[in-house]
Amino acid sequence: MRNSIIAGTGSYVPDNIVSNDDLSKIMDTNDEWISSRTGIKNRCISIEENTSDLAYEAGLKAIKNARMIAEDIDLIIVSTITPDMQMPSVSCMVQKKLGAVNASAFDVSAACSGFIYAVDIADSMIRCGRHNNVLVIGAEVLSKSVNWSDRSTAVLFGDGAGAAVLKADDNKKGILYALTAAEGDKGQYLEMEEKPVISPFSNNKGTNINKFITMDGKQVLRFSTRVIVDAVKEVLEKTDESIDDIAYIIPHQANYRIIDYAAHKLNVDCSKFYLNIRDYGNTSSASIAIALDEAFRKNKVKKGDKVILVGFGGGLTYGAILVEI
Ligand code: UT7
Repeated sequence: MRNSIIAGTGSYVPDNIVSNDDLSKIMDTNDEWISSRTGIKNRCISIEENTSDLAYEAGLKAIKNARMIAEDIDLIIVSTITPDMQMPSVSCMVQKKLGAVNASAFDVSAACSGFIYAVDIADSMIRCGRHNNVLVIGAEVLSKSVNWSDRSTAVLFGDGAGAAVLKADDNKKGILYALTAAEGDKGQYLEMEEKPVISPFSNNKGTNINKFITMDGKQVLRFSTRVIVDAVKEVLEKTDESIDDIAYIIPHQANYRIIDYAAHKLNVDCSKFYLNIRDYGNTSSASIAIALDEAFRKNKVKKGDKVILVGFGGGLTYGAILVEI
């Protein structure tokens, strides 16, 4: 039976680190509020690099770590909600920068669950025999879509990219189970860059268009705490695994309070969750991929370990994956 394994990972963040104290100089906020409500201390904010630049750097490292060359990649999937432009896709820009001439390429839009969605698609493409070596990237420059005069969202987000190369394999390892889900009826709780119909023929005058990220934090918090627990439980039930056999849960890094709650509900210590929100903030599509790569680099996960990746966010969407490293 053909399946897919994670052959290599990579990540990249802009080198401009912005602390909570830095933010308190440009808006009415403070380190105490941000740290205690979210767990965030720093985030990396791009000065000039756009999403495709971050995606390229992360992708390059993942290909090298997979001991491949760009020409080996036959599909590139980029998950992003902050593309350089609507067209061409970030994945096509990355294909060009890498010289991955044998790859087809497309983007996925599922916000903070996007990396899970993209890995699920890549795994399905490999299982059905269509592709062999898929580069999956989660990349965001959220700083260009943040309303810097809205302190309730501006302090939360950061820029970055993470990547993984999925490779066809004949052993019963790698991606063991994936679930994705959406609750579109709650989409209004987390929105960005409205694009209404405006033309010489439409009645819309283009006033009051929402360009930035807006979030009903309490509603999204309610959703996130519910689905993170449900998703992890479903993965365990469907695969007959015990949580004790899971080395790490690598969640979307949105708020440490969500993790605290989930750990309590799942009856595990918080240390079961791999967290780096302190250093990067919420990087949406990129967060799970950056954390996965960091966990590899710090030898927190090793061959044979079972890891659950779990994402939740805009759409509203969620998803989870069980992977044997
Ligand atoms: O990535 C997708 C998934 N995302 C999530 O799951 C995020 C879920 N939501 C959250 O994590 C939390 O709702 C937030 C961290 C966004 C907000 O935490 P909260 O405990 O819900 O705070 P709040 O919005 O109720 O605000 C409490 C107070 C307000 O003041 P008043 O009205 O009580 O006087 C805010 O004006 O904190 C104030 N406030 C701030 N104060 C200092 C809001 N933002 C700030 C700020 N600095 N940056």
